[in-house]
Amino acid sequence: MSKDTVSIHGIWASRWVFILAATGSAVGLGNIWKFPYMTGMYGGGAFVLVYLVCIALIGLPVMLAETLLGRRGRQSPVNTLSTLARCSGASERWSWAAVMGMIGALLILSFYSVVAGWALDYILGMVRGEFSGIDGAGAGQRFGGLTSDPVRLTIWHSLFMLLTAWVIARGVVAGLERTLRILMPLLFVLLLALLGYSMTTGHFMEGVRFLFDFDLAKVPDGILAAMGHAFFTLSVGVGSIMVFGAYMPRKASIGSTVLTVGLLDTVVALTAGMALFPVVFAAGLQPNEGPGLMFVTLPIAFGNIAGGNVFGVVFFLLVTVAAWSSAISMLEPAVAFFVERTGRSRGQVTSVIALLCWVVGLGTVLSFNLLADARFFVTDADGWHLYRWTSEGGMTFFESIDYLTSRIMLPLGGLLFVLFAGWVLDRDVFRDELALRHQRLFSLVYSLLRYVAPAGILIILVTELSK
Ligand code: PHE
Repeated sequence: MSKDTVSIHGIWASRWVFILAATGSAVGLGNIWKFPYMTGMYGGGAFVLVYLVCIALIGLPVMLAETLLGRRGRQSPVNTLSTLARCSGASERWSWAAVMGMIGALLILSFYSVVAGWALDYILGMVRGEFSGIDGAGAGQRFGGLTSDPVRLTIWHSLFMLLTAWVIARGVVAGLERTLRILMPLLFVLLLALLGYSMTTGHFMEGVRFLFDFDLAKVPDGILAAMGHAFFTLSVGVGSIMVFGAYMPRKASIGSTVLTVGLLDTVVALTAGMALFPVVFAAGLQPNEGPGLMFVTLPIAFGNIAGGNVFGVVFFLLVTVAAWSSAISMLEPAVAFFVERTGRSRGQVTSVIALLCWVVGLGTVLSFNLLADARFFVTDADGWHLYRWTSEGGMTFFESIDYLTSRIMLPLGGLLFVLFAGWVLDRDVFRDELALRHQRLFSLVYSLLRYVAPAGILIILVTELSK
């Protein structure tokens, strides 16, 4: 491995394209859909606080480690880790961390595609003007009508999976740049416009207080959830950022690039929260609505402003694009790996993997309707069960996959990646890739990576899992 090698899958034209791709990966349903509903479920400010701390002390170091390892290895995450391990005289078994990541990313894609399908359905709803003058109850019914219909869900899920597979089959580098350069800023502008609307609801400060006032006593509740979400929202712990790092030009500065991506991601999430919660309160809804939160509240906003239908169409289109640019980054680590491994074309490899994800996604589709009572990890009067048919307790298929990935696989993958970058990779290689001019800054980043991030992840994982 020479430090100038180029990946066989291509290379970004500049550092900017990496920023676009990584931001495209990071900003997605996690920011606009998941962050607000998780904040609602875990009681607001306390969750947000832990989330922000986790982004800074854990998420960013993991992102830095992934980008750096990817650029040094220039291959799919699995082969990157095995090559780098070999060069550092360590066991090639480290590559199993990337295997787990790869599987985790595909599992996420399986439910992500279903939820992105909801956004597709809402585009159509907006075009048809279904939301004009809608109130909280009506919006709730509209959402319930969608999720209780497995056929409709499957159609949208299939369409979204096809879109994702199509981009990946053509190659990530071509096409991605032009789309994201225009659409990401547009998404942000629309979020700001919604923020403007939420200020007119008369409940704006209530929303802001819900997001930012925290009660220290409440902090412990959602710690693992907040850490898991920090990983999810930055797309780290699965190799998505690592594979994009493999296509990054050598000259680009990793430190400032990673900071930019992290900052953009956080700003989008907080803006989405501030745009949503005031609408929740104004409509007399509860913030702990769960996964339907965005799909119930935003239509109320759109249904009650002038030109709301047009804004609504554009907004859900942008949500779809944001989800799309995230989804491709979930597929890429596995596709790159199997292309390297089997020598088959991207098209063939992509079709097989996307089909597998699609099938697993059907589990999520059904978990909202026919199989809503198929529950995993159930604790009831007669003990713990891996699986039970019951309407109470445990987790549905969707919830189980979400739990397994966000709360366990992502943090564990992230832990292994920072440990690898901090302890296995040669310090000089690390310094050479990072190319920081100031010694002090380097020491700070290096100790964040070697001690703070791994200790943080371990402590949270172990305490939560031993509860
Ligand atoms: N970061 C994406 C989001 O917030 C989700 C994602 C997770 C993407 C893991 C890639 C890998 O929507």
